[in-house]
Amino acid sequence: MTQRSSAPAGPAPWRVLPAPVPPSPDHRDAWALHGSAAVSREADLDTYGHDDLALTAQYLWAKLQEQDYARRVRLVAVPADVPDPGPDDVVGSASVVLPRRSNHHVAHVAVAVRPAVRDGGSGSALVEAAEAIATAGGRSTVILESEHGGEPAEGTPGAMEPASGAGRIAADDPGAALCLKHGYALEQAARYSVLTLPVPPDRLAGLRAAATERAGADYRLVTWQDRAPQRWVDDWARLETRMSTDEPQAGLDLEEDPWDADRLRRYEQDIAASGHTYLLVAAEHVPTGTLAGFTMVQLQVDRPAPVFQEDTIVVGEHRGHRLGLLMKAGLLERLRELRPEARRVHTWNAEENAFMLGINVALGFRPAGVAGVWQKRLA
Ligand SMILES: CC(C)(COP(=O)(O)OP(=O)(O)OC[C@H]1O[C@@H](n2cnc3c(N)ncnc32)[C@H](O)[C@@H]1OP(=O)(O)O)[C@@H](O)C(=O)NCCC(=O)NCCS
Repeated sequence: MTQRSSAPAGPAPWRVLPAPVPPSPDHRDAWALHGSAAVSREADLDTYGHDDLALTAQYLWAKLQEQDYARRVRLVAVPADVPDPGPDDVVGSASVVLPRRSNHHVAHVAVAVRPAVRDGGSGSALVEAAEAIATAGGRSTVILESEHGGEPAEGTPGAMEPASGAGRIAADDPGAALCLKHGYALEQAARYSVLTLPVPPDRLAGLRAAATERAGADYRLVTWQDRAPQRWVDDWARLETRMSTDEPQAGLDLEEDPWDADRLRRYEQDIAASGHTYLLVAAEHVPTGTLAGFTMVQLQVDRPAPVFQEDTIVVGEHRGHRLGLLMKAGLLERLRELRPEARRVHTWNAEENAFMLGINVALGFRPAGVAGVWQKRLA
């Protein structure tokens, strides 16, 4: 791999191209996905000191297969003077997602660059290429996420507060510097937290018992793995739709994202294709036979330790019964049986989401970093 430590004058040192979409992750055209996976791993080791969150080539491949609900492009930056690049030539990588069923004005972008080539212009080249795809796709708003290993303490020089007013990001972190350089505004900070497993069983049982008492006899937990029982699919879709509006969104220009049974079945297929399995715990409101909320995690099939928290919601009319805590404690108990080797649960919550953070802190999650959510209106 050619390494450049500063942006030279003259012809652009990097070429940005869309990753080919190969028929399988083992195909020779998957070089860009393997390169992107290596970038993700190096960037995460630099940011967090671990690679639990690193994206695998199989995951990246599975994401690109799903083009019905969003147009998805994976971009890679390679040295301009390498005509036939391979995985080791990929110095940076970006995902561009243009939703197709709602939010037709939005493009979601995430960028990562190998630490050894930072400040060499590849991050900027990827942002510019992603914005060009957004513009060509008729999008007016780009939402970009940056990842940071730690949240600066209040009063730290150079710490930025998001428009939401909650949380802080170090403005001189590479991800923040890239967003600022390209005219993005920091809308939100999301706390990254980790729960070390196993949670002491008596502690978990105590939390669950208190939440069960508060919830009362009108609610009971329902659990499934990898395929939702037909009975619950429409209800789960209703909850996913509500998730798109009920989670705090600061000043992000996002509208409701509708889910239905077909989309959930496709989601289940994509989880399996990406090398993951999922576990979901929902709360049934017994008198009406409907779901009041759910919480879900994904696990890698061939890597036992990390667990990835996905959505959690209790719909407004059922809040205040400790269902969030009840479902999450129930899920952790089920997880202990299903995957006793699990060691860490990773989650992100908006810093202004006091309700969700309160539940997570009670369960034992501890802060491990922060993500910035940035927004830019394209001219
Ligand atoms: C986070 C969430 C699941 C917690 O719901 P919950 O389990 O019902 O919360 P609790 O029972 O612990 O509620 C405690 C109190 O806060 C209130 N409350 C909980 N969430 C609330 C919210 N989002 N807005 C306003 N009040 C809320 C409850 O009414 C209750 O008040 P009370 O004690 O005066 O009756 C729920 O707020 C939610 O679904 N939020 C939207 C989706 C979301 O943000 N998910 C997390 C994304 S990371």
